[in-house]
Amino acid sequence: MDIPIKLLILAAGLGTRMKSKKAKVLHRAGGRALVEHVAETALSLAPPERVFVVTGFQAELVQAALENRGVRFVAQAEQKGTADAVMACREAAGGGEGLVVVIYGDCPLLSAGTLRKLIDQQLRSNAAATLITTQLADPMGYGRILRGAGGSFEAIVEQKAATPEQLAIREVNAGIYCFRADLLWKHLGEIEPDNPAREYYLTDIVHILHRAGLEVGTLFHQNAPELLGINTRVELAEADRVLRERTVRRLMLEGVTIEKPETVTIDTQVRIGRDTVVEPFARILGHTVIGEDCHIGACAIVHDSELGNGVVVAPLTIVGSSRLDDGVHAGPFARLRFGNHVEAGAQVGNFVELKKTRLGAGSKSMHLAYLGDATIGKKTNIGAGTITCNYDGVDKHPTTIGDGVFVGSNSTLVAPVRIGDGSYVGAGSVITEDVSEDALALGRGRQVNKPDWAKKRRETRRQ
Ligand code: UD1
Ligand code: CA
Repeated sequence: MDIPIKLLILAAGLGTRMKSKKAKVLHRAGGRALVEHVAETALSLAPPERVFVVTGFQAELVQAALENRGVRFVAQAEQKGTADAVMACREAAGGGEGLVVVIYGDCPLLSAGTLRKLIDQQLRSNAAATLITTQLADPMGYGRILRGAGGSFEAIVEQKAATPEQLAIREVNAGIYCFRADLLWKHLGEIEPDNPAREYYLTDIVHILHRAGLEVGTLFHQNAPELLGINTRVELAEADRVLRERTVRRLMLEGVTIEKPETVTIDTQVRIGRDTVVEPFARILGHTVIGEDCHIGACAIVHDSELGNGVVVAPLTIVGSSRLDDGVHAGPFARLRFGNHVEAGAQVGNFVELKKTRLGAGSKSMHLAYLGDATIGKKTNIGAGTITCNYDGVDKHPTTIGDGVFVGSNSTLVAPVRIGDGSYVGAGSVITEDVSEDALALGRGRQVNKPDWAKKRRETRRQ
């Protein structure tokens, strides 16, 4: 039986309790916006044209966070409450058979498996709707589940509207609902903003369905942390911790060694190959892909980069938006800013900065250098202290260095400049003109030695 299911993600609110200029669902946990996590989960249950995201506050930014996912967006003009947000979907998602699942965009830990259980229970029952409840030691902020004498589910009362006795109830509404589509759209309009906050509460639907003689089921979920709704930055940090714990656990089970896993920060979408070792306090962020047998040193930061196999990123090295081919060694204390391509077996040592630079296979720049907008060939040695002067105060210029070149220490390469294959640049040179293949370039004052000068000086001083 193929029942059509639509998923609505409510993400229009500001999130007052975050005390932020930014919409709550755009705050990040595990390296992704909260709403991205929820959308991913929804997309594992339904095709994108059946996933509807309700936007309002900072709608364009929420849309941008989900671009390329193909989900549909619905505008809620004014944030008048969760029932009003569902109502906003009526035109785009209303009508038809099947089920409507409603989830909140601030619920990033929710798994697809739990949603599937909810849907299964709804399908097996005669209820008009089923919703998930759980038990919390501290139910503050959540809607409380009111039950009758025999334990029958009667209603949800929101924190702001609850009596002191109701506030003591620890069974709460997780904010995850599965409705029969026809009955949701039929009765949703009956919700009134008759509460202290003057909001249209989706939770009032329970009472309304009961009034119509319909049944509403509950699915009790033991694992309360999975249902965490983020309202404050304290809860945001908690979600971040859980998501990162899940990521390191997944990676370890896939064959990655992670030392002191509680200290590393690895974003959800990062991929790492087998037998790679990650040392304590490393941060691996964004869309980073790391191959097998790599070594990511303590306190290194790697973001949005692609590393081949057997790459070493030594401690305290920063690699951003760069590609490092097999066997590259970078750091310690190196900074690969962005747009770099370090080819197989090349080495970048301490206090070397690279920007938009290609360092050819087997080349080395081991100490104290700045290489910017440079294209460097294979098996070239860049001496300590080499600087590419790529910026003239107005424009950036390229430096091209061939294969098998030896650039002596403390050389200053004033771009645009080309240094031919197999050539030498004498230490301490300022190179302003192109150097031809196999030549020696010297661009420095000639040394003058004055015999006995120092001795004579001492003697004249003594008199
Ligand atoms: C809601 C539930 C509460 C439940 C809790 C679980 C209601 C009335 N209350 O409370 O019973 O225990 O979630 O986490 O539903 N939103 C809109 N438009 C609006 C208002 C909210 O899109 O007009 C979105 C928000 O962006 C947010 C979600 O709906 O992602 C939930 O809103 P929030 O204000 O966080 O509800 P809670 O007070 O947590
Ligand atoms: Ca919430």
